[in-house]
Amino acid sequence: MDKMKMETPDLVAGNIEKIGEIFPNCITEGMGEDGKLRKAINFDILRQMLSDEVVQGDEAYEFTWVGKRAAIVEANKPIRKTLRPCKEESVDWENTENLYIEGDNFDVIKTLYESYFHKVKLIYIDPPYNTGKNYIYRNDFSVDKEEYLEQAGQVGEEGKLVSNPKTYGRFHSAWLSMIYQRLLLARNLLTSDGVLVCAIDENEQATLECILRELFIEDSYDHVCVSVVHNPRGVQGKNFSYTHEYAIFVFPKDIKAIADRKIDDEDVDWSQLRNWGSESERTDAKNCFYPIIVKDERIIGFGDVSPDYYHPMQTEKHGDEFYVYPIDKQGIERKWRYARQSVDKIRDMLKVRKTSSGYEILLGKTFGVQKTVWNDKKYDANEYGTKIVGELVKGGGFSFPKSLYTVYDAVYAATANDKGALIMDFFSGSATTAHAVMQLNAEDGGKRKFIMVQLPEETDEKSEAYKAGYKNICEIGKERIRRAAKKIAEENPDAKFDGGFRVFKLDDTNMKDVYYGAAEYSQLTLDDFESNIKEDRTDMDLLFGCLLDWGVTLSQKHSIEEINGCRVHTYGNGAIIDLMACFDNNIPEDVIKTIAKKQPLRVVFRDSSFADSPAKINVTEIFKLLSPDTVVKVI
Ligand SMILES: C[S@@+](CC[C@H](N)C(=O)[O-])C[C@H]1O[C@@H](n2cnc3c(N)ncnc32)[C@H](O)[C@@H]1O
Repeated sequence: MDKMKMETPDLVAGNIEKIGEIFPNCITEGMGEDGKLRKAINFDILRQMLSDEVVQGDEAYEFTWVGKRAAIVEANKPIRKTLRPCKEESVDWENTENLYIEGDNFDVIKTLYESYFHKVKLIYIDPPYNTGKNYIYRNDFSVDKEEYLEQAGQVGEEGKLVSNPKTYGRFHSAWLSMIYQRLLLARNLLTSDGVLVCAIDENEQATLECILRELFIEDSYDHVCVSVVHNPRGVQGKNFSYTHEYAIFVFPKDIKAIADRKIDDEDVDWSQLRNWGSESERTDAKNCFYPIIVKDERIIGFGDVSPDYYHPMQTEKHGDEFYVYPIDKQGIERKWRYARQSVDKIRDMLKVRKTSSGYEILLGKTFGVQKTVWNDKKYDANEYGTKIVGELVKGGGFSFPKSLYTVYDAVYAATANDKGALIMDFFSGSATTAHAVMQLNAEDGGKRKFIMVQLPEETDEKSEAYKAGYKNICEIGKERIRRAAKKIAEENPDAKFDGGFRVFKLDDTNMKDVYYGAAEYSQLTLDDFESNIKEDRTDMDLLFGCLLDWGVTLSQKHSIEEINGCRVHTYGNGAIIDLMACFDNNIPEDVIKTIAKKQPLRVVFRDSSFADSPAKINVTEIFKLLSPDTVVKVI
């Protein structure tokens, strides 16, 4: 029986394999740190393979900074961390498909890597801007460690928040490594039609664009830098007053990835859906003459007409519904511009307007495509960011949240046509993105899901937030989602949207060191093997650790049942069960058989679940007989 790996994938080995598939002649053997031979790349040959001329010099078009290579090495390294479920702090754990994950996003992205590979439709991020006043999270001190340490007051232990003042010699480099590492990994979470939106200000906008152009090559991706007027009053500089920041959109070139602006935007042009002029009458296209049914000033469907019946009224009342026909003011039966099916598809672009005698249907002009300047009072970060958070989470004031509508419009632009999209924000702060996703779902009936990631960065002891009981930013973010969901539900009583979330917290692996390197220990006893799992870990921790290891998503249905005294986990949304698990000791044969009969795709036990080797062999035999396709592993 195979053992679960319980560490994130070794991306370097995977990358070498992939290059080897295309260029087998570039594969050579190198010596690993452990003295063992392993595959490596001969870069001179690879470089030559990619050039039709003899490669001589080192010069190339590239954007680089001190520490870039170290950042790549660090990003590709496996880590032994896991996400531990926290049911108590979750909302609607059983049904929700949203996730709230606490921890450094670099490690969190690594733990999620296999489960969410190519599954995220939109990544929206608003990282700390490199203002010289912000703290950044440093994972890697391998670059010039000594020099770092000389910078008194600017260093922390590896993996701690440190300040990054402008006086620091590597001011840009430190920030660039931080963001590059995360984007290098996160881009692989995007679906092939996925969109990335990065908020940024003037401090690093230019450099961030260089990074994005490297990671998302311009042959395949469009890069559009939208200016968002988020502070109409402006921040006074020496020569200019700063009123805007940026939202850089990156999206695949070959598709229409960005939806047109919402039709309720002030500057959309409206025209009649009814045709006018030549060839605009009912007889010119019979399938374009039908009633559009309106209720509560919204289109709810389409009706039928009998072929020869003349409709005298433009609007007919049927109970509390209104049937609107394409009849003009002179009473001439004209036609709608499109047949029923086409109009149904553009419902989002239609508006119902009340007239003196009934209703008319208007179509928003399609040149409502997104503009590169977002200038509207709704993007004001103070009015619709700080104030909204302050009202929802009393005392939980959060510095510099985005306007709810900046994020809402970005989410809408990327997912208007994919209402089941998965949206991730791994610098989630006060969770504006979660709020925007829920709001949009409530309005358009979508089933978008979110993953918020946030470092449990402590709030300042003197801050209002701290005094109000929010000891770290995650507390503010979670509370904001709870309250926002409640408010949205109150304001949209008929709306069905997912206002819950499952909370997970980043932690060290569930496994003791002995699990990974038993060979390194000279005097191992049986006890050491039996307790290869850390004492404080529950079976829920183990279950979710295995799901991550196996690349299964974290938001599926989960139930626990008692079978012959054993706790058995069943996990998965589909008719075929994704995974079953039991982490008890000495699991009786009938429990194994009950599990095998359900024929799940995967099953996991503890190594110590079986009394001895024959018992283990017996399990293998049971599955061979009852469910030969199930993959069975132990931890
Ligand atoms: C500019 S704020 C985001 C604000 C957010 N868009 C909002 O509207 O509330 C950036 C956030 O990223 C968080 N952060 C910084 N480094 C992080 C890291 N390595 N992992 C996770 N979160 C991090 C900070 O704590 C901060 O809350």
